[in-house]
Amino acid sequence: MTELSLRHGEGWRMDKLIIRGGAPLRGQVEVSGAKNAALPAMVASLLTEESIRLHRIPQLGDVRTIIGLLNHLGVSVEGRGQEPISLRADRIDRFEAPYQLVKTMRASVLVLGPLLARFGRARVSLPGGCAIGTRPINLHLAALEKMGATVSLDAGYVEAKAPRLKGARITFEGQTVTGTENLMMAATLADGVTVLENAACEPEVTDLAALLNRMGARIEGAGTPTISIEGASHLHGAEHEVIPDRIETGTFMVAAAITGGDVTINRCLPYHLEAVTEKLRETGVLVEETDCSIRVLGDGHVRGVNIRTHPYPGFATDMQAQMMALMSIAQGSSVITETVFENRFMHVNELLRMGADIKVVGTTAFVHGVPTLSGAPVMATDLRASASLVLAGLAAQGITTISRVYHLDRGYESIEQKLLGLGASIERVAEH
Ligand code: EPZ
Repeated sequence: MTELSLRHGEGWRMDKLIIRGGAPLRGQVEVSGAKNAALPAMVASLLTEESIRLHRIPQLGDVRTIIGLLNHLGVSVEGRGQEPISLRADRIDRFEAPYQLVKTMRASVLVLGPLLARFGRARVSLPGGCAIGTRPINLHLAALEKMGATVSLDAGYVEAKAPRLKGARITFEGQTVTGTENLMMAATLADGVTVLENAACEPEVTDLAALLNRMGARIEGAGTPTISIEGASHLHGAEHEVIPDRIETGTFMVAAAITGGDVTINRCLPYHLEAVTEKLRETGVLVEETDCSIRVLGDGHVRGVNIRTHPYPGFATDMQAQMMALMSIAQGSSVITETVFENRFMHVNELLRMGADIKVVGTTAFVHGVPTLSGAPVMATDLRASASLVLAGLAAQGITTISRVYHLDRGYESIEQKLLGLGASIERVAEH
């Protein structure tokens, strides 16, 4: 498969990052808006013909992908660079999310609920698997059928129809973030009340509910396992600022710890990543918080700790790869258990190439800390695995070259500028 795939006119360059490790990171950095809040917020524009105006939308690969998909459906999107983005779905003339777009980003399935709720029809490509697992959407579909949708599979596409969705009591068999978001959006325009049980509690779900309520929805309980949504006849325009990115925040916290530095992360929400903070404190790292900033002081020595990922408010699966990089140079051992995805250890082989001592048995990784990692040419395979390799490169002796950096660009805005600002030796080399 060629690595260069063109998506709505955007070429995927084969950039590399070159990192010379060893410098303790010092200084202040401001995190961007959350990718996983921005994506559903932009899709929510499908629920009304009025304009939605969103602040703090990060400039990321995945944001460009969702804009491409929304444009394809007929949504007009304005706003450049750091400006607020305005979206208006007053001329929707397509109801299909094509495979070419969905295959590169699973979050595209979020258009299913809003299209069905507002237009009674949707044809969305099944996302297919990705590097971290099969990632089915069976929970999304079963819940939509409970609301009266007829769902069929046709040539790799989900065909869904519903003259009008009906409120229902739905218990998710397993916690699903985008499943909860899809159903919450679908229920805002349904006839009657919908109750979601065993709903995901992630902050991004709560942030989406805040936007939907600003649009005239009546949602209660977001952030808890039970969410009730009273259907409305229509929703109106709104303005909203998405929450800061808690995974980017956690990534910079680990960057400070792994380099033995002193970094203050600004415009973040510490209460969104208490489990990560507690774990870092357990390793011996000093973490100081205010209501909108976190300061992390490392001294170059961390203790090995055990980690088990869990849905929010547990330890985030999206932080597992980053913590594994830190545990690779810890004093002692660490047992890291991934409970959310079945194959989220793609970073292990690359860390081994840098001298880490890790053994994977099923969904558990046994890490024995080594005194230091050695720089090496490595390859990014998925978003958080690539973050893990950047962190390892910052701590390693010598040069680390990371290829396929487009994985990283999906979820981190201007990461090399932010790291340069903290004293890292890092540069991006465009591959031609
Ligand atoms: C969201 O993915 C995030 N993406 C992921 O972040 C994050 O890792 C994940 O939640 C877990 O926190 C966005 O919000 C855009 P799930 P999502 O549905 O919603 C299984 C990143 O790095 N499942 O909560 O796709 C699924 O296979 C990305 O930013 C079903 O079996 O994840 C997984 O094992 C990666 N059937 C588990 O549930 C379904 O219908 C959790 O998946 C849905 C999910």
